[in-house]
Amino acid sequence: MMGTQKRCLISREDIARRVQELAADLSRDYQGCDLVLVGVLKGAFIFLADLVRELSFPVEIDFVRLSSYGGGTSPTGEVHISKDVELPLKGRDVLIVEDIMDLGFTLGFLRQHLATHLPKSLKICCLIDKRERREIDVPLDYVGFVVEQGFLVGYGLDCGEKQRTLPEIFVLEK
Ligand code: IMP
Ligand code: MG
Repeated sequence: MMGTQKRCLISREDIARRVQELAADLSRDYQGCDLVLVGVLKGAFIFLADLVRELSFPVEIDFVRLSSYGGGTSPTGEVHISKDVELPLKGRDVLIVEDIMDLGFTLGFLRQHLATHLPKSLKICCLIDKRERREIDVPLDYVGFVVEQGFLVGYGLDCGEKQRTLPEIFVLEK
């Protein structure tokens, strides 16, 4: 990505403030519940790590690793699981934690997949709701930021595995 310009879209301070607000919402809604957070690797690992440290109650954590068939430029809507959940989810409150929703295929697939485990409840917490290219409508229960368009990097989001570790969220400029 040599030569690609990027512009800071969401600062560290704004991310930290919004993560605290989301954690407060979760602490209010799930206090006393048997909550399992399912993070979507790799992009959600930083968001999940920050979020859980702001929660005022104990949770369990698991991860899935998903990838789309067909590569990034022409998504087919087919999603493949390369690492599944390991904790039992049956009868428990489950919250998917994802970095960004774009077309919607990934969260649509994961929601259906986790529903087969028969959780007591199943909701989604997504840091960024990117609306420009949405193909499938998947209800997001907790959203950090709504972004209309662009390709974002940083705070877990990558471009070809680069720029994931940046502490702010940037938009790549053409
Ligand atoms: P979709 O909603 O099925 O299109 O897939 C969302 C996934 O695509 C996310 O989990 C990210 O891994 C990736 N993705 C979508 N938009 C972006 C972006 O702007 N930056 C980095 N990754 C993205
Ligand atoms: Mg992802």
